[in-house]
Amino acid sequence: MAGAAPSGFNKRKKKLSVKCEAAAASNQIGVNQMLVYVPPHPLIKHWVSVLRNEFSPPPIFKSAMAELGRLLIYEASRDWLETIGGEVQTPCGVANVEFIDPREPVKVVPILRAGLVLVEHVSSVLPATQTYHLGFVRNEVTLQPTLYLNNLFAKLKSNWPPRLPDRFPDSSLILVADPMLATGGTIVAAIEELTSRGADVKNLRVVAAVAAPPALKILSEKFPGLRVYTGTIDPGLNEKGYIVPGLGDAGDRSFGT
Ligand code: URA
Repeated sequence: MAGAAPSGFNKRKKKLSVKCEAAAASNQIGVNQMLVYVPPHPLIKHWVSVLRNEFSPPPIFKSAMAELGRLLIYEASRDWLETIGGEVQTPCGVANVEFIDPREPVKVVPILRAGLVLVEHVSSVLPATQTYHLGFVRNEVTLQPTLYLNNLFAKLKSNWPPRLPDRFPDSSLILVADPMLATGGTIVAAIEELTSRGADVKNLRVVAAVAAPPALKILSEKFPGLRVYTGTIDPGLNEKGYIVPGLGDAGDRSFGT
């Protein structure tokens, strides 16, 4: 029969939907008033799986990270962005409409290097954004982060006025992208940099590809009210501070280094 489902299709569909419902029920974990979401979407599982595969070459790895970022940003923005109402003329009549307010761009803060890849498609999800880069490097021995590039409110030249006011208005929505929440050292340092410049943790959301318990623990202790959106939560870290099973070094695998 034309269009008939292949045999086993219905059984498989039922099994998948049961799995998704179970995941949907448990996708929100509260840790000390911090909320961690693992959106139960099959595409999120797919892109995380591509990232985990050690045989995914850099171009595939990078595009999987960018796709995962797009989906996580979509989920993170669901109950976050305000719209402004109005009317537009369609070709057939007048419609009530709601647009995202372009006067309130989301401040996007990718943590270099791999955070850049996670937000590669941000403009295809969020209509109004401003991007501020933070560069951290992790000492391989102490695992402590050092800030080597800070683009928050930088002056373009020392005798020029700052490009922006030197504090975020505390209502600013801020999206921080750090693919690997491992020890939590880098993400904590980044959020402290932002809060020292007026950011309110309640308006801040973090997107990550993989999160591990040490990072989630320290984030929840330091920043109650924060929300984290991650592709998956892994059990722990190895002696080098890498997430296990994780996906390896997200920066090296994205940029082929
Ligand atoms: N940074 C990475 O890129 N991978 C990890 O597993 C931990 C930190």
